[in-house]
Parts: sequence; structure tokens; C-alpha cells
Amino acid sequence: MSNSTDAAEALLAEVARIRSEATTRLDTIPDATGVEALRVEVLGRSGSLTALLRRLGNVPPADRPAVGRTANEARQELETAFAERLERLAQGELSDRLAHEALDMTAPGRPVRVGHLHPLMTVERDLREIFHAFGFEVFEGPEIESDLMNFELLNIPPDHPSRDLWDTLYVAEPGSVEAGSPRPAEDGTTLRPHTSPVQIRAMRTLAPPIRVLMPGRCYRYEAVDAAHGFEFFQVEGLVVDRDTSLADLKGVLEEFARAMFGADTRTRFRPGYYPFTEPSAAFDIGCLVCGGPGCPACGRTGWMTILGAGMVHPTVLRNGGLDPDEFQGYAFGMGLDRLTLLRHAIPDLRLLMSADLRFLEQFSGGR
Ligand code: PHE
Repeated sequence: MSNSTDAAEALLAEVARIRSEATTRLDTIPDATGVEALRVEVLGRSGSLTALLRRLGNVPPADRPAVGRTANEARQELETAFAERLERLAQGELSDRLAHEALDMTAPGRPVRVGHLHPLMTVERDLREIFHAFGFEVFEGPEIESDLMNFELLNIPPDHPSRDLWDTLYVAEPGSVEAGSPRPAEDGTTLRPHTSPVQIRAMRTLAPPIRVLMPGRCYRYEAVDAAHGFEFFQVEGLVVDRDTSLADLKGVLEEFARAMFGADTRTRFRPGYYPFTEPSAAFDIGCLVCGGPGCPACGRTGWMTILGAGMVHPTVLRNGGLDPDEFQGYAFGMGLDRLTLLRHAIPDLRLLMSADLRFLEQFSGGR
């Protein structure tokens, strides 16, 4: 600097002063706001270093590059120092926070909530298992069915009074809801009121000998109370072979009742009526509550009806694509909800669909 002018010397001295003063102050600033204030004070549009650079014009041209370079170095050095200071402050804050939020590795973990089967599904699995041992395989059909499948192919013609038993929820004709005049679909599509239509599907899909168990959800037009729901589960059974008899049906159902309710379960068959079986029967077990003499749970009869059954009607075999002169079979259908209520002595059917954990958690043991 020996050749430089007084003006240049003065500016250089001031740059050095600003630089060392800012660096010293920076170290004592406790927070980001303070750092920013200092940055504006020195490097801002009207900051001290900025103002000083504006005075570069007073320096003789020959000295300008040297002074300008020194001033720019100072600016860059300070920018870096501000940034580093900000980073250190941020890290300090973070470690302060971490010190407060320290993990306690010895604290007990939060238990993961593991679900379990709904009691209805446990009963359904037990049924699958019992009938699996009798050689039945599972076959499933859709919950939305046509009138043809639900009724006509099962020998229930339109306007037949027995349809009242299976009145259900109708699917609307496409577009009729949007048009503001909902009406049932023309092809009679409904939510299936029983699993019996799956019999037709099984016969049309499989070749005899057929031994199938057909579980699934069903729907009916019901006033809901402790014993009735509009949504429920059934399990249907179907056997078709060349020489299947009513004796086979009796044998299988009696064995099923013993496997399900205990070896000393009493059973009986009563005549019944279904359009799709002939002859038809109702199958009862000895009342699980009173064991015989009669009580309110069994309507004082000592018996509880658990399913309907019968020999497959020749017309139904024919509708399933089978020749009734060659094949015979039996079918049965039971309500899963009823069996579940009986097994656990549950007083109200509505609890099953309540999704109430206080109720459901009682069945976490599976049975
Ligand atoms: N589908 C009948 C019902 O819902 C039950 C049944 C099935 C009866 C098979 C006989 C044979 O009530």
C-alpha cells in the first residue's frame, strides 16, 4: 500500500474496522433476529459497508481495484460468518429441544392392537371344518341376484304366496333413481334373500357327485328386532349324486349337530315345506337353554329349529342342468346368526352387527 493515496488508506482502515467490529459483535448475539439486524446494519442497502463502497468514487482510479477487492473480501467474509452463526444457533436450539425430548429406551412399548374374528365368522369357520370332514367343499355365489336365480329356478313362480317369506330389498332400475321415480329393476334384481340360488349355480358349474357348502350374506325385508335383522348370514348345503337318499341327509345333519353342539345333543325332524325341496323338513335340536322341559327361549317346546332341509325338487335339478331320473340330492340351509346367538347365549341379534367393541372384544378367544 505504499503508493496508495490518503483517501484509499482511509477507506481500507474503515473496512478493517467494520469487519472486526461486526465479527466481534456477531459472537455475542444470542438469536437469529439479532444476527439479521446486524447483517442489515452492515451489509444492507444502507449498511455501513455498502455506504463505504459507494465512496469508492473518491479514490483515485489507480487505487480503486485494490480497495474494491478488499471491501468485497470483507463483505464475503462477513456473509459467511453470519450464515455460520445462524446455523450454530439453529443447532443449539435443536439440541436444546432434543435434550427435553430424550427417548427413554427402557419405557414399555405401546401394545399393538391385534384384531380377531367376529363371532359369526368363527361359527362359519367351524361349520366349514365340520362339513369339510364330511367331504364338502366351499362354493360361493353373488349377493346381488336376479329374480330367476332367487325364485323362478327354485320352483317359486311369480306371485307364489311363499315369496312373502323371502321378500327382500330390490335393486332399482338403472336411471330410475336419478329420474326421481325409483322402481325395482325390470329383471327383478335383488339382494338375495337366501343362499339357495347358489344351489343352481353349483349344479350348473360342477359335475356330480356334488358336495358343496355355500356360506354367505343374505338380506330380507324385515322389521328389525332382537330376533330379526334385514341383513344376516346363511350356510347352505347341497349334495347331488346317483343314489343320495333322505337317510343320508338325516345322518349328515345328526352328525353335524353332535359335532357342533356336543355328543349328547338330541335331534328331531319335522315335516316342512319349501318349494325347492320335496319332501321338506325342519331340523330341531333339544333346547340348549332348558335341555327339554321347555322354557321361554324355546317357546316352551323343549326344541329349537336350526335349519330347513329336504330332497332337491326334480324341477330344481332340471333347472340346474341335471336329469332327475339319473340324479337325486338333498339340500339344507341354516341361519348363522341364530347358531351364534345359541352358542354364546347372546340375547339380542342386533349386537352382532353393532360394531360395538365392548361387545365384540368378549370374543377375542375365538370361541
Ligand atoms: N332357503 C331356505 C330359507 O332361507 C332354507 C332351505 C335351504 C330349505 C335348503 C331347504 C333347503 O329359509
